[in-house]
Amino acid sequence: TKTPVKVAVTGAAGQICYSLLFRIASGDLLGKDQPVDLHLLEITPALKALEGVVMELDDAAFPLLNNVVTGDDANKVFDGVNVALLVGAKPRGKGMERGDLLRDNGGIFGPQGKALNDHAADDVRVLVTGNPANTNALIAMNNAPDIPNSRFNALTRLDHNRALSQLSSKTGTPTTEIKKMTIWGNHSATQYPDIFHTEIGGKNAADLIDDEAWLADTFIPTVAKRGAAIIEARGLSSAASAASATIDHMRDWIAGTPEGDWVSMAVPSDGSYGVPEGLVSSFPCVVKNGEYEIVQGLEINEFSRQRIDASVAELAEERDTVQKLGLI
Ligand code: NAI
Repeated sequence: TKTPVKVAVTGAAGQICYSLLFRIASGDLLGKDQPVDLHLLEITPALKALEGVVMELDDAAFPLLNNVVTGDDANKVFDGVNVALLVGAKPRGKGMERGDLLRDNGGIFGPQGKALNDHAADDVRVLVTGNPANTNALIAMNNAPDIPNSRFNALTRLDHNRALSQLSSKTGTPTTEIKKMTIWGNHSATQYPDIFHTEIGGKNAADLIDDEAWLADTFIPTVAKRGAAIIEARGLSSAASAASATIDHMRDWIAGTPEGDWVSMAVPSDGSYGVPEGLVSSFPCVVKNGEYEIVQGLEINEFSRQRIDASVAELAEERDTVQKLGLI
């Protein structure tokens, strides 16, 4: 029998985790033959609710769920973890300035980065879903000097999947026939879903659709504002799809991406495509043997360049703010 993999999840009593934990426990993250331990972190007032979630995990009698640890102390909950899914974050309150949001989240992701640094397993991979995801990952990464920077990612896979879905309904092609979608930049309204390298049924997506107005005025804003559309319809923010994308990202980071395709991952930049080194920005990535690489050599046209630069400029501003606040 295999040794259980220890998976830490924060914000474990929240909406996303109400889907995410059950998907992990059923084997969707690590495979149907890999036992798993869940290490669940919450803030103190939510521990009672978390108890209820754990009762439900028990009641599902998942064959692969070996053990569940819960608590409000990251130094204990992160002990020995191989995977950390940082979902819990401070939401933006009414009238809150972006600087306040970054400071509050710095108060979460700084200490969590340090706790991972001090207690996680040597092979830990960290994925930040909690918003502002890219900059939260940047903060955690900068507070974990002993963990390689490359182990800190942020989630743009939901945006990637949303783009696949929009292209699928526009062209009547199943998402399985759509390859090489790219989200660039920040997981925010400035993100840039790029279809100039995308293939739909083997044909170039931009050529096939051949409609720059649709691209600029419909596709890009629909993908970028999909979160708001879901809040409008459901009365709550996207949760099950965010959980699914979180699984997709980490599963692919561990198990690899399919031949002939790539995925969007927000990773610390190595300077590729003019993105300043160190910013956690979304790129097209392939994964082999558990290591990701940014896809190199893509030609970036003027339409794309402007949009990538705008989103990256926003990331640089966020970095400058958290630097001034002494969070990194
Ligand atoms: P939620 O509010 O239902 O749950 C968040 C949970 O995090 C709460 O139970 C809260 O007690 C907990 N939490 C807060 N601070 C914590 C801390 N320091 N340590 C541990 N737990 C803590 O929110 P939901 O819907 O589950 O969303 C979670 C985050 O994911 C939000 O920041 C949301 O904006 C973000 N999100 C990101 C997406 C992406 O594509 N990157 C997509 C959708 C949501």
